[in-house]
Amino acid sequence: MQENKKFIIPHRGKITKQDRRRLKGHKSFILWFTGLSGSGKSTIAHAVEEKLFEMGVHTYVLDGDNIRTGLNKDLGFSAEDREENIRRIGEVAKLFVDAGIVVLSAFISPYRKDRQFVRNLVEKDEFVEIYVKCPLEVCELRDVKGLYKKARQGIIKNFTGIDDPYEEPENPEIVLETDRETIEECVEKIINYLAQNNYLEV
Ligand code: ADX
Repeated sequence: MQENKKFIIPHRGKITKQDRRRLKGHKSFILWFTGLSGSGKSTIAHAVEEKLFEMGVHTYVLDGDNIRTGLNKDLGFSAEDREENIRRIGEVAKLFVDAGIVVLSAFISPYRKDRQFVRNLVEKDEFVEIYVKCPLEVCELRDVKGLYKKARQGIIKNFTGIDDPYEEPENPEIVLETDRETIEECVEKIINYLAQNNYLEV
């Protein structure tokens, strides 16, 4: 199977990423939310999507609901599976960027090298890393899905933050502190960043 790879010759269509962007009237890029389970990644990603939608920006959210139950339903939570999870999400996000769409991805993505892999997949100005920072104690107190309790009881193994690592971003474009900032403040911070850095125009 692998040796047939050399017979793959990509077809280049006439319509480019730039053409699709012009049609939509805005750039396309990835807003990559990373942080502990329960830090607020999905909630904020969806709130930002609503705001962008109102502004006429074409968006799509990738998160556990549509990825880990579909495309990645064969993957678990070992380091290898998390790496493969992020690799596939990165490739999908790249296709969305090529399609001219703003992608909001909300995954723990605990490993620096996996996030760096996705950053390297796209152009320099197509990846905005957003660290959704929240102390473990606060995430655990929230325990929206009841999973921290199960992890403490040893029912779930290798749970991020409990008995599996989370590597904090070193140079994220945006940091949100969800134990101190409201969802509205976080959304505003992201929209301001995008406006100030000319992301919302072609
Ligand atoms: S990632 O590490 O591969 O990026 P992802 O964001 O897709 O993780 O999935 C995390 C979600 O899966 C958590 O919010 C939680 O609901 C659930 N989950 C189940 N088992 C684990 C685990 N061992 N560690 C972290 N999250 C888990």
